[in-house]
Amino acid sequence: MASSIVNVPFQAMKGVDCHYVGLKPSTSSKFSCVKTAIRVRSPRLFVVRASEKHDGPIKKLGLSDAECEAAVVAGNVPEAPPVPPKPAAPAGTPVVPSYPLSRRPRRNRKSPVLRAAFQETQISPANFVYPLFIHEGEEDTPIGAMPGCYRLGWRHGLVEEVAKARDVGVNSVVLFPKVPDALKSPIGDESYNDNGLVPRAIRLLKDKYPDLVIYTDVALDPYNSDGHDGIVREDGVIMNDETTYQLCKQAVSQARSGADVVSPSDMMDGRVGAIREALDAEGFQHVSIMSYTAKFASSFYGPFREALDSNPRFGDKKTYQMNPANYREALVETHEDESEGADILLVKPGLPYLDIIRLLRDNSSLPIAAYQVSGEYSMIKAGGVLKMIDEEKVMMESLMCLRRAGADIILTYFALQAARCLCGEKR
Ligand code: PBG
Repeated sequence: MASSIVNVPFQAMKGVDCHYVGLKPSTSSKFSCVKTAIRVRSPRLFVVRASEKHDGPIKKLGLSDAECEAAVVAGNVPEAPPVPPKPAAPAGTPVVPSYPLSRRPRRNRKSPVLRAAFQETQISPANFVYPLFIHEGEEDTPIGAMPGCYRLGWRHGLVEEVAKARDVGVNSVVLFPKVPDALKSPIGDESYNDNGLVPRAIRLLKDKYPDLVIYTDVALDPYNSDGHDGIVREDGVIMNDETTYQLCKQAVSQARSGADVVSPSDMMDGRVGAIREALDAEGFQHVSIMSYTAKFASSFYGPFREALDSNPRFGDKKTYQMNPANYREALVETHEDESEGADILLVKPGLPYLDIIRLLRDNSSLPIAAYQVSGEYSMIKAGGVLKMIDEEKVMMESLMCLRRAGADIILTYFALQAARCLCGEKR
């Protein structure tokens, strides 16, 4: 069953239930509107009609305007359908005087056409960024905790997945590498190897799809033998400025390969300004920074860490990621990232943190991104598999709610599935 949350209905009065209206990219890469309609129950169920006489076009008599007017003035009023009868209520319905309400908000919700007219938030495949896991292998390996997601082989599976996404209007991806253990080290130096997995994948994708927008993750955790986002000192402290120094090299290496947007997700202090300076010094003024401004130390990242085998070897990430109990602190981070030159501010996770998305939306003029993280994805998938919820409807509703809260773009593992829904494709 399709989601109707984003739909613009059409011909609703003719017994046609429109399930999808979306944007479908045509070969010219422009979008055209697609409608798929499914005949459902008899319109009788919904519409009370007073007369059937006027089915089909009414025959013209060849009269002029003046003759038509004269006929009406003379009292020969042509027939039109009678006022429709009042629909009957079921037997036993109490007969009550209507309440003298000055406002009945349901009036604006009474038909699909009105609901579509007054819908305040829209969503389109253009709002999605598709996170993709890549590895060195040739085959795609399913990720146990994320049904439907794979570690994609960078030369085959990755390219095919991007082609599928572009087919339905998703032309932005963010790459997450599964790095061989043997290449991990305490200082994560593989993260700025120009011939590493991510730079190679970027060059391949840009070669095939020059207009694809590639976001990268800037953080040491996939490359760090300690599994932390930063360099770990012997007493367990995550070193800030030394880590930032490495992140700058990582961002420059990604930019050199053709990344469009580098996205520091590590929550070190001052890294946005440092990365901006490093990019500019190397001639990458055109490369954007999407800062993970408010990234919380969340248990919703569990499936992701399984996907990349990137669990911290000890402890947790609470000395750099934010406390889930905090709200005002997100403003401190927002002001820092803005003044350091971030182009996009990101909130992560998504659905449990809608208030933070709204906070950033109301306090910054920059575009806001929301990351619907692995745990959010897996919960919806699991609920769907167990038939406890309607996966597709919950998926579309959660994405719409992230938009309503103030997100311009959404990083979501549902990007392809949701875009197919919006395009009216069922697979
Ligand atoms: C690490 C990173 C994480 C995610 C994106 N980048 C995990 C973490 O902070 O441990 C999580 C994404 C997800 O759960 O979907 N830099």
